Amino acid sequence: MESVERNDTLNPLTRELPQRVSDRIRDIVGERGILTDPADTAPYLSDWRGAYKGKAALVVRPASTAEVSGVLALCHQEGIPVVTQGGNTGLCGGSMPDASGRQIVLSLNRLNRIRNIDAANDTLVAEAGCILADVQNAAREVGRLFPLSMGSEGSCTIGGNLATNAGGIAVLRYGNMRDLTLGIEVVLPDGRIWDGLRGLRKDNTGYDLKHLFIGSEGSLGVITAAVLKLYPLPTEKAVAFAALPSPEAAIELFKHLRSLCGPRLTGFELMSRMSLDFVLRHMAGCTDPMAEPHPWYLLIELTDSSPTANLRELIETGLMGPLEDGQVLDAVIAADEAQAAALWKLREGISEAQNFEGPSIKHDISVPVSSIPGFIDKASAALSNEIPGIRLVCYGHVGDGNLHFNLSKPPDSENADFRAQAGRIGRVVYDVVAQFTGSISAEHGLGQSKRQDIVRYKSDLELELMRSIKGLLDPKAIMNPGKVLPD
Ligand code: FAD
Ligand code: MLT
Ligand code: ZN
Repeated sequence: MESVERNDTLNPLTRELPQRVSDRIRDIVGERGILTDPADTAPYLSDWRGAYKGKAALVVRPASTAEVSGVLALCHQEGIPVVTQGGNTGLCGGSMPDASGRQIVLSLNRLNRIRNIDAANDTLVAEAGCILADVQNAAREVGRLFPLSMGSEGSCTIGGNLATNAGGIAVLRYGNMRDLTLGIEVVLPDGRIWDGLRGLRKDNTGYDLKHLFIGSEGSLGVITAAVLKLYPLPTEKAVAFAALPSPEAAIELFKHLRSLCGPRLTGFELMSRMSLDFVLRHMAGCTDPMAEPHPWYLLIELTDSSPTANLRELIETGLMGPLEDGQVLDAVIAADEAQAAALWKLREGISEAQNFEGPSIKHDISVPVSSIPGFIDKASAALSNEIPGIRLVCYGHVGDGNLHFNLSKPPDSENADFRAQAGRIGRVVYDVVAQFTGSISAEHGLGQSKRQDIVRYKSDLELELMRSIKGLLDPKAIMNPGKVLPD
């Protein structure tokens, strides 16, 4: 423990942080800004899936940018590692401290004000701890849309969305978090505050620094606020659920609907029968909208802000030809908002449903959209060969070329045996990804689960540049150690 002086009294609650340091943190954030009772700290020390667990010297909850700055300046001076946390819904262990008990969890959930909405500029300034759904609602109240949307939106935060460059179910039309952000405010590891809260759509004044921090998973600094882009609120929506014989048919339908519907095609989500089976088995109130089972399904959403768009007619037209020539086996179109929500629940429930089937190994990959069928074929064959009986829970944002190629253990195998094979299984999947010049993380990030894997798939030069940036911004390596960058 380099940072603990020999004569210092250790904090009796953690025995890993000098009392002097925890007292100073308390001075900065106040009594409400510190959690020490194990009952209070437990939710911060285990992730959503229960796949990662950690210990912390303290859970610190600053309520302002100035308080974040004060805490980081102190941690920098004392060499105390900091794990920033938002809603703790991340899927690769990025928000978990390690097992040493020396790290501080810096939760931003009290930094949650909407600072400003500028309707004419179509921007909203949110603090990092704002829950995504609250930001969506704030935009809706002024007749605008904040389009980032995903199954975790009731818990995940704007800071976490930025730090992971989150994607979700509307990237096809609106882009990912990087595309939805005009400016950010960041506290650097030494406590200095960079105010980059500019709401400009055009700004060519040198390097665009915000993009360094977006997607950096808490490894370069703490994002405390952001200027987000707003859009016209859709006034019309059509949601269809279509059954297909194969991923090839899904890509053919994608090409067809893109040409027919243009930017109105907002969501295009693929799911395998196994994924739907898990949802039907475990998620309350979910029923199969079709009379017979089919191998693959698509959830398709069209949206438009024009009152004359007539999207129902458009989607019917779009599905007609493919239904006649057997590319689509069956289809239902939601008659109202309740039916649309029920269809979306079949897709958005997959992640949670999979938890009921024992441990899962997640792969969040992307390949060119045209390579999706080839990837599924090759990766499925390679895995079934490697682990007979493994269950492929394949689904995702296929219109973005992003698949969640998740795996559940063979029903008769032991949990621990399956978990122990994660590295080997990942290698099999990622080698196929590499054959299609894809990415081993499309939207969830590297966190702790994939950071070693990138050594195999990124060039030495790319890794060297990443390490140089880390060294420049965080020379004492206090920000989220053990995440993103390989050892
Ligand atoms: P956390 O989990 O708390 O943190 C994630 C990472 O960001 C960590 O490395 C953390 O250190 C860092 N971080 C958090 N806040 C800050 C900050 N203010 N400054 C600097 N670093 C910070 N993700 C998608 O992209 N698309 C999906 O469709 C999607 N669906 C999901 C569905 C479910 C049911 C679940 C559980 C998760 C899903 N996710 C999805 C993953 C997750 O919700 C996103 O990664 C989300 O952006 C994480 O936000 P969070 O606030 O929970 O961040
Ligand atoms: C989703 O799109 O549902 C999540 O990003 C995927 C997951 O939980 O693996
Ligand atoms: Zn996803």
